Amino acid sequence: MPKTKTQYVCQNCGVNSPKWQGKCNSCGEWNTFVEELVDRGKSEERGRKLSGPTERTTPITLNEIDSDESQRLKTNIPEFDRVLGGGIVPGETIMIGGDPGIGKSTLLLQVADKLSRIQKDGQGKCLYVTGEESAQQIKLRAERLGIRSNNLYIFAETDVLAILEQIEKTKPVLTIIDSIQTMFLTDIASAPGSVSQVRESAARLTYLAKREKLPIVLIGHVTKEGNIAGPMTLEHMVDAVLYFEGDIQRHFRLLRAVKNRFGSTQEIGIFEMRGTGLEEVADASKAFLDNHFVHSSGSVITTSLEGSRPLLLEVQSLVSATNFGTPQRRSAGIDPNRLALILAILEKRQGMSISSQDVFLNIAGGIKVLEPSIDLSVAVAVASSFREVAVDPHTIVLGELGLSGEVRAVTQIGQRLTEAARLGFKQAIIPHGNLKAVSLLPDAPMEILGVKTLSEAIGILIPR
Ligand code: TYD
Ligand code: MG
Repeated sequence: MPKTKTQYVCQNCGVNSPKWQGKCNSCGEWNTFVEELVDRGKSEERGRKLSGPTERTTPITLNEIDSDESQRLKTNIPEFDRVLGGGIVPGETIMIGGDPGIGKSTLLLQVADKLSRIQKDGQGKCLYVTGEESAQQIKLRAERLGIRSNNLYIFAETDVLAILEQIEKTKPVLTIIDSIQTMFLTDIASAPGSVSQVRESAARLTYLAKREKLPIVLIGHVTKEGNIAGPMTLEHMVDAVLYFEGDIQRHFRLLRAVKNRFGSTQEIGIFEMRGTGLEEVADASKAFLDNHFVHSSGSVITTSLEGSRPLLLEVQSLVSATNFGTPQRRSAGIDPNRLALILAILEKRQGMSISSQDVFLNIAGGIKVLEPSIDLSVAVAVASSFREVAVDPHTIVLGELGLSGEVRAVTQIGQRLTEAARLGFKQAIIPHGNLKAVSLLPDAPMEILGVKTLSEAIGILIPR
């Protein structure tokens, strides 16, 4: 029997097949099968090695299991800890993905530096494994960030076995693998970055993390579609999957959890990229509203709830007559389908003839909002630009829109209004359905008007 065999592996979900397939039967994606070489003897041996702990463990009751929250490792970067649910859990494996150049290496180098400085007496070693850049390149970045920790070890290595050995020997409080796509195992015949390599490398590292209770962060590449490159199975293997996102041209960066076994996936961390690295943004609403209080048409302030924090955002719209061909609709920060729906409501229920106009919509600061509570503000921003009438810059607008133009209630109204009052807003246009909840608030922080329909809101905000 030949020692190596060829198999085809789906680069999306990791399923393998003896022959090439156009469409993957498992995940339904097209053109994802790639030929990979597998070393038979070794892979069987490896399978045995990987199949579980060598020392047998015995079943125990829930009461006997430790769940001490204080064991969480705080990185002293509160925005990072918040996304993880309060810090890193011993033995946790975290995967962090994001577009190239967004600042993943910078963030993790800063995290490793902070951690290695907290723990004293040689206790808090951090290991930064770099497979993408040389140690000199990391040094240059560290100099730029002002990092000089004596406890931060840079290891330019891509061989997983050598890395595992180092981790076992030095027992770092945190290991960072930059990136998982550059790592390889010599006993797998296919190239680094292929599904088998990425999956096996991650499996070995995860296994060690669990066994030794040493947390590991894996940095992952992101494909054009925005998924972490390599098999989806990686996402099942790790405890937390974080995305670092933002607009490269702008300064703000958001850290978001899409999976977290030890915390909520609602929280976001907000950072700003500066010349000297990433800075935390503690007062996000203020930062996002920078330059706002100018009176111009098409600009409306609303709130979006990100985890436990309400965030004040500026919705900007520009409506102008189409000069040529089909009218354009462009949106940054909200789903284009949602925008199309809101424009249809304006056209049909308000009688605004937007179909012959180009519409551009933007959420200032480069943030993406999924919450429907910003619908009303989007509609008002478009109407304001269309009629060229500015909305009072000290007013915030909240509400979800229904297809018949009705304004629906939003969640956590109290928190949103308190945040707006804190930043000096004087008036709030909110769904009528939320008025009752507001009347229960100890003292209403500003003038509050409830609206039932879009026309009512437009009548108040952009009077003819
Ligand atoms: P990097 O961490 O290398 O991104 P990734 O690992 O996600 O590919 O960050 C790259 C960008 O960040 C680069 O374009 C330069 C910018 N940057 C700053 O603006 N300030 C800094 O202090 C550093 C280190 C990087
Ligand atoms: Mg990098």
